[in-house]
Amino acid sequence: MRLRNVKNKEEILNSSEYLVKVPEDNIGKWADVFGNNNPIYIEIGMGKGKFIIENAIKYPNINFIGIEKFDSVLARSLPKIPQGLNNLLIIRMDALNIENVFFNEIDRIYLNFSDPWPKARHHLRRLSSKVFLEKYDKIFKGKKEIYQRTDNQGLYIYSLMSYSEYGYVLSDISFNLHGDKEDLITTEYEDKFSSKGMPIYSVVATKDVKTSK
Ligand SMILES: C[S@@+](CC[C@H](N)C(=O)[O-])C[C@H]1O[C@@H](n2cnc3c(N)ncnc32)[C@H](O)[C@@H]1O
Repeated sequence: MRLRNVKNKEEILNSSEYLVKVPEDNIGKWADVFGNNNPIYIEIGMGKGKFIIENAIKYPNINFIGIEKFDSVLARSLPKIPQGLNNLLIIRMDALNIENVFFNEIDRIYLNFSDPWPKARHHLRRLSSKVFLEKYDKIFKGKKEIYQRTDNQGLYIYSLMSYSEYGYVLSDISFNLHGDKEDLITTEYEDKFSSKGMPIYSVVATKDVKTSK
């Protein structure tokens, strides 16, 4: 996501009640941070945050954590979060470090319109590559659930194969999510692509604890 630099971004980030400044301090303890044992769903690469904010408002009994690596993107999303949401937190980090922040406590991962890294030699940078699936193993609590949406057919096919090879079971496969389902909470990218009539691909990948590799 390319964004113009936001002038007062440090001030916006430092003053946000939602941004967790040292997330590593909470590893294994996110239930305590939220003060309940509700499921924890994370979105990796939340961008401007529409999806995770709307989910947090709609589902107060689920805890949501948005992850984003760029300050300038966060400086756009943080001011949009309404005050007083106690089931939403935001983390600034590269997902490469995700196993330093969570341990055995995540119930679902959302990957929405992740960077496709189209060059074959960069495939291990994709958030659905084996490199990341190995990291996700360490952070899931029990059953593993990855919900993915993308406009990018190449990334989609790659992801289906990557999940499948890693022992995930695929369901809810759609090559036209918006034709198949109504009342979806959408992301910024999704709105942009679907308004141009482009298809949205989606999949739910799950893996039971018993069948773990
Ligand atoms: C194409 S945008 C999609 C944003 C949003 N999910 C949407 O659908 O509108 C991808 C976002 O993921 C973030 N991102 C990409 N790789 C990441 C990583 N390894 N860790 C954290 N964020 C990442 C990018 O900075 C960017 O904001």
